[in-house]
Amino acid sequence: MRPRNILNAILIACIPSVDSHHRSQPNLHQHTLHRDNNIAISDYRAQAIKEAFEFAWNGYETHAFPNDELRPTNNKSANTRNGWGATAVDALSTAILMESEHVVASILDFIPTIDFTISKSGEEVSLFETTIRYLGGMLSACDLLNGPYQHLATSENITIALVQQAFRLANRMKFAFDTPTGIPANLLDFDTNGFNMSDPVGPATAGTLVLEWTRLSDMLSDLSFANLTQHAEEQIMHARYSVDVEEPYPGLLGSKIDIRTGNFINAQGNWGSGSDSYYEYLIKMYVYDSTSFSTYKDKWVQAVKSSANNGVGLHPSSRRDLTFLSSWVGEYISPVSSHLACFAGGNWILGGLVLQDQTFIELGLDLVDSCFETYNATVTGIGPEGWTWTEDDFLDETNFYKRYGFDITRPAYNLRPEVLESLYYAYRATGDSKYQEWSWRAFQAINATCRIGSGYSAITNVNVADGGAFTNFQESFMFAETFKYAWLAQAEDSKVHVGQGEKQEWVFSTEGHPFKVRTSQ
Ligand SMILES: *[C@@H]1O[C@H](CO)[C@@H](O)[C@H](O)[C@H]1NC(C)=O
Ligand SMILES: *[C@@H]1O[C@H](CO)[C@@H](O)[C@H](O)[C@H]1NC(C)=O
Ligand SMILES: *[C@@H]1O[C@H](CO)[C@@H](O)[C@H](O)[C@H]1NC(C)=O
Ligand SMILES: *[C@@H]1O[C@H](CO)[C@@H](O)[C@H](O)[C@H]1NC(C)=O
Ligand SMILES: *[C@@H]1O[C@H](CO)[C@@H](O)[C@H](O)[C@H]1NC(C)=O
Ligand SMILES: *[C@@H]1O[C@H](CO)[C@@H](O)[C@H](O)[C@H]1NC(C)=O
Repeated sequence: MRPRNILNAILIACIPSVDSHHRSQPNLHQHTLHRDNNIAISDYRAQAIKEAFEFAWNGYETHAFPNDELRPTNNKSANTRNGWGATAVDALSTAILMESEHVVASILDFIPTIDFTISKSGEEVSLFETTIRYLGGMLSACDLLNGPYQHLATSENITIALVQQAFRLANRMKFAFDTPTGIPANLLDFDTNGFNMSDPVGPATAGTLVLEWTRLSDMLSDLSFANLTQHAEEQIMHARYSVDVEEPYPGLLGSKIDIRTGNFINAQGNWGSGSDSYYEYLIKMYVYDSTSFSTYKDKWVQAVKSSANNGVGLHPSSRRDLTFLSSWVGEYISPVSSHLACFAGGNWILGGLVLQDQTFIELGLDLVDSCFETYNATVTGIGPEGWTWTEDDFLDETNFYKRYGFDITRPAYNLRPEVLESLYYAYRATGDSKYQEWSWRAFQAINATCRIGSGYSAITNVNVADGGAFTNFQESFMFAETFKYAWLAQAEDSKVHVGQGEKQEWVFSTEGHPFKVRTSQ
């Protein structure tokens, strides 16, 4: 890459945005806010969640920093994200929102020292994971520290340093797009600057880059990053299929794309693993800029309507009141769902808010309520990784199925955020304090079951009293998302809340990093 003088470009683009932090919508929560008792309760909860976050940070900082992750039961560390300090970078935006000053300062001191040119673990670099955790974390911090959290900036030029690092990282990964179609490879070899051209990618890995890379382009006034990811995104949106593969439903995709031809090579998909955040970003790009990304919104509407009309949202036979998003193989609908797919409730609510469409909001709330049921049903109060159900009368029903409407197929909990995330959106959209209550219950259950040693660990079984066994691994997204959404649901006066109407000032990336939307600048 030709060296260029990025500093000037950053100085132009990444300056404090015009003082536009006035509230642009009426606050529908006013009736709640004025009830002192509720405020006292939610303040207490927010404080307790911040303490849990700081406890986990201290464990990581003491025993694992600057490695990627902490192994909390024996105070060892892991490097599953190329050894660039994934937990630190991923934790930054949460630490800023919580105004945890010493944590913010440690991370800001560290980020300029990261060498993104080599993979310290020696492993391939995932374009997707690196984008959402590292790039997203740094860009969000730039927006927050140039915006409502300026008082946490540790030096005048810290945001410039953040954007410089983001630029270096994205620039280093750009070769991923050097394919016949411009659809990027995901696993990048930093030793050879190569990748496996015959390895297919999924809608999520290739289609969850566009928000981060477009934000970077906007900050740098350099359109190349936006251009690469938007070009890839457009090809996924207008999916082409191999001759022997049939398109599942309009707007609903397969899960494997050949990067040499751009063709989908299977028709198997779902709203969960491998595809989730592709659908998520269609509407979030519209939130980012409703003029430039209205075709993305059209694709999102098509996907949601296809899901609602074709039985992708299924009601279990024993609990017709519940709705779970299922999987598809071509036109065949298969009743399996997952914790990952539970982001959809919040995402459909967000779409309903910005499109002023009550139907999407109602559908989203059904999904949120049903996902919470998977928490409420288990012994630990935490929902499982995967489950199944049946539409037909089932002769061999378990008592668990009769009562709760699903059977657990994958009992682990990996510290995932999606249910807390969706409960947060449900609370913002409705102002109904039951969602705060459920969020708090879920967080307390996670804290009670997964807290071990110097942090939090994934567990193997949500439906036995002690969670089965600890896997001794703490994902960085626990810091970026799980703590953040639990906290945001209680922290009434946070400056970056999801708005209750059409206009949004911030949009949360798939990793929970808030970005300033383009149109409000
Ligand atoms: C891990 O570190 C914590 C303090 O952060 C300490 O209390 C605990 O005993 C340590 N555990 C092991 C296994 O060394
Ligand atoms: C930021 O300012 C400090 C002190 O003036 C200087 O040492 C450092 O190199 C600057 N960093 C960047 C990225 O410009
Ligand atoms: C490249 O990817 C294909 C398809 O996933 C796989 O079969 C092949 O083994 C990979 N080649 C190498 C060198 O890893
Ligand atoms: C990206 O750039 C190429 C050439 O520079 C241009 O033809 C194309 O229209 C651009 N694509 C987008 C999505 O901006
Ligand atoms: C949670 O479970 C209890 C007991 O099984 C039930 O009474 C309650 O209605 C459930 N709550 C929700 C929100 O589903
Ligand atoms: C989390 O667990 C710790 C240790 O048991 C406890 O002290 C703390 O109050 C709990 N926090 C929450 C929010 O449940």
